[in-house]
Amino acid sequence: MIVGVPREMKDNEARVGVVPAGVKMLADAAHTVLVEAGAGAQSGFPDSQYRDAGAEIVSDAAQVWNRAEMVVKVKEPIEAEYGFLREGLVLFTYLHLAPLPVLTCRMLESKVIGIAYETVRDRRGMLPLLMPMSEVAGRMSVQVGASYLERERGGRGILLGGVPGVAPARVVILGGGIVGTNAARIALGLGATVTLIDIDMNRLRELDDHFGGRLNTLASNSYNIAHAVGESDLVIGGVLIPGATAPRLVTRAMVASMKPGSVIVDVAIDQGGCVETAHPTSHSNPSYVVDGVVHYCVTNMPGAVPHTSTLALTNSTFPYVLRIANQGVREALRHDAGFAEGLNTWLGTLTYRGVAESQRHPWTAAADVLA
Ligand SMILES: NC(=O)c1ccc[n+]([C@@H]2O[C@H](COP(=O)([O-])OP(=O)(O)OC[C@H]3O[C@@H](n4cnc5c(N)ncnc54)[C@H](O)[C@@H]3O)[C@@H](O)[C@H]2O)c1
Repeated sequence: MIVGVPREMKDNEARVGVVPAGVKMLADAAHTVLVEAGAGAQSGFPDSQYRDAGAEIVSDAAQVWNRAEMVVKVKEPIEAEYGFLREGLVLFTYLHLAPLPVLTCRMLESKVIGIAYETVRDRRGMLPLLMPMSEVAGRMSVQVGASYLERERGGRGILLGGVPGVAPARVVILGGGIVGTNAARIALGLGATVTLIDIDMNRLRELDDHFGGRLNTLASNSYNIAHAVGESDLVIGGVLIPGATAPRLVTRAMVASMKPGSVIVDVAIDQGGCVETAHPTSHSNPSYVVDGVVHYCVTNMPGAVPHTSTLALTNSTFPYVLRIANQGVREALRHDAGFAEGLNTWLGTLTYRGVAESQRHPWTAAADVLA
């Protein structure tokens, strides 16, 4: 198969869909890999590494898209890329089609085969291609929070781990899923006093067991949240109700009760945020202050660490890339029902219920189009 890896065109997107290690595995299996010049540069993978691994470096995006049978990307195509969509082309990337009716329409009209990272499921029913980015954002949230607690960045001037004779910072984490667990691991590792709040008691039991009692756990209710937030130096928001906007667990009054120079990192901002005073920010202007409290609400936190994020993402996506290349797209999807859940568009037919319902569009189940 001819596999194409274009340079991401979306603003501020520095990740790349395949790393040189993946190119080597594809080349070893006798596939051809076309990589657009500079595609991996911002993630720390120069063209020379791709060439050494067996890729053909091509100078422009049009060549990659037009010659490839499968294009592997990171973000959904932007308008400048719509013209490259064509019948039978396999596009494997994050698509997030539900709020994008124009792109959905273009994908259906062009009869592209669109497989979305975010809807692929593994055998346990988890979303394995979303998880790595939550791991990155969860771990990064503590790093970012610690940095904003420094005086120069508007914080209280507190060292997260304290020193002998001086108490460490108090960190409160809302949500004990992938983001929350990874945040807890890093915050505890740095020596902070950490309280994690979740609504799922079984999850709190697991975390209590996992962290051997070093983590304080609290049941999620407005009373507990108000008390914990009021005493905290750093609040990290990582709650998720799948498919819904995040619940606003931290009210404006709770924010006002925090000490001046405290910090809120609302990771859940991509789902609307779990803090009333949170609004989306970007890497170029990541923070703002409300009632003396520093807010960091960047919607694509992994974008700040593209080298790690690209490797984390491709560790999870690449096995699927190889399966499509080796088996062909229809067989690869037919052999794995969870992978088939990633199929969003098939040769002009919408195949994902969530997208169909949000756009009131007719759809056919993936299993039926693949039969
Ligand atoms: N900003 C970014 O760059 C970025 C990156 C990755 C993920 N995210 C977002 O972070 C959020 C969390 O992702 P995740 O992968 O950890 O999700 P997850 O499903 O693994 O965990 C969510 C947790 O929230 C808990 N929860 C739900 N309602 C609650 C409530 N009322 N009180 C307390 N806890 C509650 C759930 O029980 C679950 O444990 C998502 O919105 C995700 O999109 C953002």
